[in-house]
Amino acid sequence: MKRMEIAIRAAKEAGIFLKENKDSISGLKYKGSHTNPVTNMDVDAQKIIVNMIKIYFPSDVILAEEEIGKNKSNKNMWIIDPLDGTVNYIHRSSIYTVSIAYMGEKALELGVVFAPELNELFYAKNKEGAYLNESKVHVSDKSDISLALVETGFSYKHREREKFIPIFSEILQHVQDVRVTGSAALELCYVACGRADGYWEYSLSPWDLAAGVLIAKEAGAIISTPSGEKLDIFKGDILAIAPSLYQEFIELINRR
Ligand code: IPD
Ligand code: CA
Ligand code: CA
Repeated sequence: MKRMEIAIRAAKEAGIFLKENKDSISGLKYKGSHTNPVTNMDVDAQKIIVNMIKIYFPSDVILAEEEIGKNKSNKNMWIIDPLDGTVNYIHRSSIYTVSIAYMGEKALELGVVFAPELNELFYAKNKEGAYLNESKVHVSDKSDISLALVETGFSYKHREREKFIPIFSEILQHVQDVRVTGSAALELCYVACGRADGYWEYSLSPWDLAAGVLIAKEAGAIISTPSGEKLDIFKGDILAIAPSLYQEFIELINRR
């Protein structure tokens, strides 16, 4: 079995588990503050994924959100968010995903994002393009920022939220509209398939970003930090956007 097949199989199995058990969520707790919930579903979905990976690739390193090996080896490592969009999930929204990536020696090699209730599987391999179910996807060719639909998200930390308001307000005045979908992985996939023209957010974790970043990049998005530096998924500030909007968007963000 190849890593891509395992990633897809694990994402689907965990996603279906989440979907089928949405009405019996248990063990609701908060990590730090009430803005950052976790449930037994997050933990159990992660077990499904990790157990499957361990069967086929027992010596691979795993970095997963719910307390499995806070490993920062940066290489030959699976990066897993078993449930991206927990706030949506506990509010019974159908917008949430399973996100699985594999980082090789030098770069992200594969990324899979599965939205079980939308029945959408996004995936990409390095240098091989990005797909939604069976179809190849590409970022939008939008060049007029006033017609752009962009995605963002708010940090769990209230202080960070406050700092974000001026930037948010600046962007809001120049684009067609802004969406806050609630799953960073899915927002990156929406950029990949042109449903959104761009996405930016701050203070994310590697498991929010890894798979979606590769999918967006393979679909043709420009990826950087919001201030235009090289993205480091371990630092967590991201901009992913259609190429012809990149420069103008960066300038708007950095006015604030
Ligand atoms: C969250 C989602 C959300 C983003 C948060 C993330 P979680 O992940 O990706 O869109 O705004 O910052 O932490 O906690 O639901 O896995
Ligand atoms: Ca997440
Ligand atoms: Ca999560």
